[in-house]
Amino acid sequence: MAGDEKDKDKARSAAEGPRRMDRRDLLLGLSTVPALGLFGYAWQKQRQYERAAREAAAAPQQAAAADVQTVNVALIGAGAQGQVLTDAMLRIPGLRFRAVCDVWTEYNQRRVVNMLSRFKHEANGYEDYREMLDKEKELDAVVIATPDFWHARHAIDCLKAGKHVYCEKEMSNTLDGARSMVAAARDTGKLLQIGHQRRSNPRYLHCYEKLLGEAKLLGRIVTVNGQWNRAVAADLGAPDRYVIPEARLKQYGFKDMHQFRNWRWYKGLGGGPIVDLGSHQIDIYNWFLGSNPTRVMASGGLLYHDPKTHEWYDTVMAVYDYDTPAGPVKAYYQTQTTNGSQGYFENFMGDQGTLLISESELNYAGRVYRDPNAPAWDQWVQKGYLTAPKIQEVQEKAEESSAILDVRESASPDEHKVPVVLRDPYHQPHLQNFFNAVRGKAKLNCPAEIGYESAVTVIKVNEAIDAGVPLSFKPEDFKV
Ligand SMILES: NC(=O)c1ccc[n+]([C@@H]2O[C@H](COP(=O)([O-])OP(=O)(O)OC[C@H]3O[C@@H](n4cnc5c(N)ncnc54)[C@H](O)[C@@H]3O)[C@@H](O)[C@H]2O)c1
Repeated sequence: MAGDEKDKDKARSAAEGPRRMDRRDLLLGLSTVPALGLFGYAWQKQRQYERAAREAAAAPQQAAAADVQTVNVALIGAGAQGQVLTDAMLRIPGLRFRAVCDVWTEYNQRRVVNMLSRFKHEANGYEDYREMLDKEKELDAVVIATPDFWHARHAIDCLKAGKHVYCEKEMSNTLDGARSMVAAARDTGKLLQIGHQRRSNPRYLHCYEKLLGEAKLLGRIVTVNGQWNRAVAADLGAPDRYVIPEARLKQYGFKDMHQFRNWRWYKGLGGGPIVDLGSHQIDIYNWFLGSNPTRVMASGGLLYHDPKTHEWYDTVMAVYDYDTPAGPVKAYYQTQTTNGSQGYFENFMGDQGTLLISESELNYAGRVYRDPNAPAWDQWVQKGYLTAPKIQEVQEKAEESSAILDVRESASPDEHKVPVVLRDPYHQPHLQNFFNAVRGKAKLNCPAEIGYESAVTVIKVNEAIDAGVPLSFKPEDFKV
C-alpha cells in the first residue's frame, strides 16, 4: 500500500480505536472528534471507561468475617492494570490499602489514592518505592503492576523487605530478571504469585481438573491452536497538563512521554504483543499439556505500525513442539494487532474431542465438541461437568444447501458448553488465591517457578523470529 494510503488507513483505524470501545460509542463519539482531536477523543473515552469500571467495582464490599486476618497492602504501578487489580481487591474482604506508589504522581497516583479514600482506605502516595518500603513498616503484601522492565527490581526489593508479592505478568522482560525473582522468593521464604490469572479462573480449573484430568474427554491431544487478534488502536498519550517532567521520565528509564505511555512496544521495556498478550495463553498450553515445549519456530515482523514508535513485532505466528507424557503435540499461536476478528481463545484438539476456551465471558467461554467416534459423554453430562449437547442439524443443513452431501465429509460434532461462569472481575480469583495464601489457607496457583517456565516459553518466540530458524529448549532451561 502506498505510504499516503497507509497513513490514511491508519488514521481511519485509529478513529475506530481505542480498544474496548463499542460500535455505538464510536457512532456517538465520532461527532466529537473534530472538536477534541483524535488524541483528545481517545483520552476522553479512556477516562469514561475508567469511571465505568470504578462504578462497577463500587459494589459494596462484603464485610470481613470476624476471624479474617487483615492484610495490609500497597500497590506499585497505578496505571490501567493497577486500577483493574485495585477494583478487584476492593471486593475482597479483609484488605487494608496503606500505600500507592507511582511515578506519575500528577495523574495515576493521585487518581488511585483519591479513589481509595472514597472507599475509606487512607493510602499514602509515593513516587519512590524504596521510600515507601522504608516508611510503611506494617505492609504485609505488595501488588506490582509496573511496566515489565521494572518487575524484577520492585519484586526483589519488596521480598527482601519481608513482603509477600503479587507481580503482574510478564514476570520480567529478561530471563535473568525472572530467575533472580525466583531466587529472591526462595531466599526470603516469602510468597511470589505471578499474574497469570487464568490459573485461578474457575472455568479453566474445571476444564483442567474435571474435563481433561478426570474425564479425559479429549482423548489424546495432538494439536493446539490459539490466538489474540486485536484491532488497530491509537497510541496512548497524555494531555499537556499531565506531562511528566523529562528529568523524572529519564530517572525511571523512559526517553519521553510517548515511550512512557507505550512502553510495551519498546525493546528493553516490554516484549511486544507476543509477550503482552501471548503470555496469558501460551501459559495455558504448558498447563493443560502438563509439559513444557521442546522446540519453537516463529515468524513475525513489524508489518503495519510505525517503526519510529513501535520496536516490537505487531504480527507473530509461532509453532511449538511438545513431547507430552501422552505423545507429541504441535501447538500454534498467533497474535496480530491489525484486525480484532475472532478475538482471543485457546483450542485443544484430541482424537475424541475439542475444547475451545477463552477468558472472555462473551466469546468462546467454554465449548466442548465430541468427536462422532468417541464414547458417549452421558455420564459427564449427568454429573454436571458439561451441558447436554446441542445436536448439529445435519439434515437441516443439507436441505439449506443445494450441494449434495458428500459422504466423505465428517459429520459435525455435538456441541456442549462448560457450565462454569465467572461473575466476578477476571482477576479477582487469582488475587483471592494470593491473599488466601498470605493467610496460610491456600497454595499459590502461579508461584514464581511456574511464572518462570511460562516466561522461558514465551520470550523465546522473539528470539526465534530474530534467529529465523527453529530453536530448542532443554528441560534445564525451565529450572532455576
Ligand atoms: N494480567 C493481565 O490481564 C494484565 C493486563 C494488562 C496489563 N498487565 C500487566 O500489568 C503491568 C502494567 O501494565 P499497564 O497496562 O497497567 O501499564 P500502564 O503503563 O498503564 O501502567 C504502568 C504504571 O506504572 C507506573 N510506573 C512506571 N514505572 C514505575 C516505577 N519505576 N515505579 C512506580 N511506578 C511506575 C506508571 O506511572 C504507570 O502508572 C504490565 O506488567 C502488564 O504486562 C496484565
